[in-house]
Amino acid sequence: MKKLFGKIKDFVKSRPKTSIVILIVFIAVFSYANVEVMHYTSEPGFCEMCHPGTGTGALSEVHTWRQNIHSEAGVKCLDCHGEPGLFGYKKAKISGLYDTYVEIFRSEEYKLKILNKAVEDPQYAADLVPSTTCLFCHTDSVNQQIRDERLMAGWVNLRMLDSVENPDFREEKGMSDIFTDELESDVDPGHQRHMEAGLSCMDCHHRMVHGGEYRAQVDLARCSECHSERAAEISMSEIIMGEGDAAVEFSHDFHNMIFDCNQCHMDLFPMNAGVTSLNFGDHTEDTACFSCHNGQAASYDCNSCHGQPPMPEEPITYTMDGFDPVDFNHSFHGMAFSCDTCHDDPWTMKAYETPMTMSQMYQGEFCGSCHNGQDAFAATSCNRCHN
Ligand code: HEC
Ligand code: HEC
Ligand code: HEC
Ligand code: HEC
Ligand code: HEC
Ligand code: HEC
Ligand code: HEC
Ligand code: HEC
Ligand code: HEC
Ligand code: HEC
Ligand code: HEC
Repeated sequence: MKKLFGKIKDFVKSRPKTSIVILIVFIAVFSYANVEVMHYTSEPGFCEMCHPGTGTGALSEVHTWRQNIHSEAGVKCLDCHGEPGLFGYKKAKISGLYDTYVEIFRSEEYKLKILNKAVEDPQYAADLVPSTTCLFCHTDSVNQQIRDERLMAGWVNLRMLDSVENPDFREEKGMSDIFTDELESDVDPGHQRHMEAGLSCMDCHHRMVHGGEYRAQVDLARCSECHSERAAEISMSEIIMGEGDAAVEFSHDFHNMIFDCNQCHMDLFPMNAGVTSLNFGDHTEDTACFSCHNGQAASYDCNSCHGQPPMPEEPITYTMDGFDPVDFNHSFHGMAFSCDTCHDDPWTMKAYETPMTMSQMYQGEFCGSCHNGQDAFAATSCNRCHN
């Protein structure tokens, strides 16, 4: 017996750090059934012993969590790093034992190598924290489904997760149901649609908790990674802008083959159909569609956007003092001539903008360019216009 203690003493003297850890393991293993210890070893402060870093990389998980909205809301490590249900909790505790083993017997490089996997690879991160865990808190449907299927451990109150019951929890925290509620954000990609297509939260929200931000915005470059590169496979519905003759169909599918999402969003357009409205005056400005469709970078052919260019149906009526008014009809002129015969030179597409006089017309300007007695009746046939 004495011999054995001597050996232990020698070992402790030569490797004090390791011995302390072994002691902790020893105690942990023996009292594992004890709820108090479970509690203690689940607290962020305990995790911090081996995850003590600062900054945003591997080992800084406790530090970054403290800066995140989840910590403010009381969501702790094992609420995410342990699946919902009693079994999920147990599994997390057992993997904690494995962590301890690695801490003692493997090198620091090895530890960092493992931790960096989740930092660098969204796919790996998605396996580490399955989407169902996030959905358990952030939706009603998945919460109810899991509660029906699994044995929950709410009664011992080991962590927040197992006592989460939606919609009560959501309402208490003022959170939306990401499947059924419209998001307040300018960007709403449709969560349910993406989850049904087999995505994970990490495809868009990677580093959301441990990236060092309180509330991380999704980087739109992430959308492009899938949508622009796989535009041929992932079909998005057409956007219809405007109504009637002026209605314009905008095809994401087509444009996404050429452009990344952030070349249009959010500078040129919001990610929200029906917000942008354009009149003809905008067509010649360097905005919206026309920052490209200016006849150089992309076509400015009315018909390629407008199935039928919107023409005023009613005549444009010019009134003047002391003389009869003149009706100008697009119904005739717009059919007989292409729009660019008259637009935007000499006329912009806005009624009553261009000042005109008869003397200019007699000299072959404006209406007189055609109404010269050859191409059309002459500008001196007063009553054919003034009626
Ligand atoms: C709201 C959920 C959530 C909470 C709370 C949370 N994590 Fe994480 N954790 C994640 C996700 C998701 C990942 C996957 C990598 C990523 O996206 O950053 C992750 C990754 C990790 C990793 C892998 C290495 C790394 O840096 O990515 C460690 C270690 C970790 N978390 C520890 C902790 C500790 C310790 C706490 C408590 C102080 C904690 N986590 C709290 C969600 C959470
Ligand atoms: C005794 C030291 C120690 C303690 C305490 C500790 N960890 Fe770890 N943890 C490690 C080591 C070492 C690794 C890397 C090797 C591995 O995967 O086990 C790790 C890895 C992780 C990972 C990433 C696993 C992966 O596969 O990428 C998560 C998540 C994690 N720890 C969470 C926690 C949480 C949460 C706590 C507190 C409840 C905690 N750890 C407490 C040592 C520890
Ligand atoms: C235990 C329940 C719980 C789990 C598990 C959980 N969250 Fe949360 N989440 C919350 C709470 C509570 C908030 C804070 C809501 C608030 O204060 O607006 C929050 C906030 C967020 C926000 C910020 C919301 C905003 O208003 O900007 C995002 C994004 C988010 N969670 C995503 C995730 C992801 C992704 C996961 C899985 C890795 C996850 N959450 C896991 C409860 C949870
Ligand atoms: C296709 C990309 C994508 C996927 C996948 C995705 N999200 Fe989101 N999520 C977004 C975008 C974009 C926003 C809104 C803008 C922002 O926060 O940057 C958002 C917002 C949120 C919000 C804030 C809701 C609010 O009311 O403002 C929560 C919570 C959230 N996501 C949770 C999740 C969870 C949990 C998952 C996995 C089940 C998930 N998201 C998967 C892109 C995604
Ligand atoms: C990992 C790949 C991936 C990422 C990242 C991604 N998406 Fe998607 N998205 C898809 C897939 C796949 C579909 C098709 C779903 C289906 O078939 O219903 C889709 C569908 C859509 C649709 C529905 C199209 C429609 O009209 O029905 C919209 C809108 C959309 N994504 C927007 C976004 C936004 C915004 C982001 C970034 C915040 C984003 N996506 C990020 C893969 C992705
Ligand atoms: C790149 C596509 C594109 C091209 C090319 C284009 N337009 Fe448009 N036009 C639009 C869009 C988009 C709107 C806005 C529809 C809405 O929101 O009501 C619009 C609106 C208009 C309007 C205003 C309609 C209203 O109800 O206020 C007129 C007039 C118009 N276009 C005429 C033309 C004519 C004429 C041409 C050719 C010289 C032309 N457009 C070329 C996309 C285009
Ligand atoms: C060439 C420009 C352009 C590109 C590139 C583009 N969009 Fe759009 N997007 C638009 C326009 C225009 C609208 C409608 C805006 C409006 O009506 O105010 C729109 C609307 C949206 C909406 C809202 C849809 C709805 O139903 O409310 C989403 C989501 C969206 N885009 C996602 C994306 C994603 C993801 C990408 C990259 C894969 C992308 N967009 C690339 C021009 C573009
Ligand atoms: C970032 C530049 C850019 C923006 C912004 C843009 N387009 Fe385009 N668009 C192009 C290019 C490039 C082509 C292909 C070359 C061409 O047709 O001139 C194209 C082609 C088209 C076509 C013909 C191909 C098809 O889909 O059948 C239509 C219609 C069109 N765009 C409509 C629009 C409308 C409407 C808007 C605004 C809501 C818009 N575009 C915004 C660059 C852009
Ligand atoms: C023969 C010449 C001519 C042709 C061809 C023509 N327009 Fe016009 N348009 C005019 C004149 C003149 C005005 C009024 C300008 C003014 O009063 O300053 C006008 C005004 C307009 C307006 C503004 C209406 C308003 O209420 O502000 C629109 C829209 C318009 N034209 C569309 C078209 C379209 C689309 C075409 C082709 C299909 C077309 N026009 C062809 C001469 C023409
Ligand atoms: C591009 C040539 C062209 C221009 C510019 C033009 N017209 Fe005409 N217009 C014609 C032709 C051709 C006819 C039919 C032949 C005829 O009756 O001599 C016509 C017919 C008419 C008619 C009789 C049919 C009807 O629509 O009631 C009126 C009135 C008229 N034009 C008014 C005008 C006025 C006002 C302007 C200037 C604002 C104008 N036109 C500019 C070519 C033109
Ligand atoms: C091709 C159609 C057309 C014919 C023919 C025509 N007018 Fe005009 N007239 C116009 C238009 C268009 C205006 C400009 C209205 C405005 O800008 O408010 C105008 C303006 C006028 C004006 C007020 C502006 C000015 O120049 O003083 C007078 C006066 C006038 N016309 C007299 C005549 C007389 C007299 C004749 C015959 C000798 C005649 N017009 C023939 C279309 C016509």
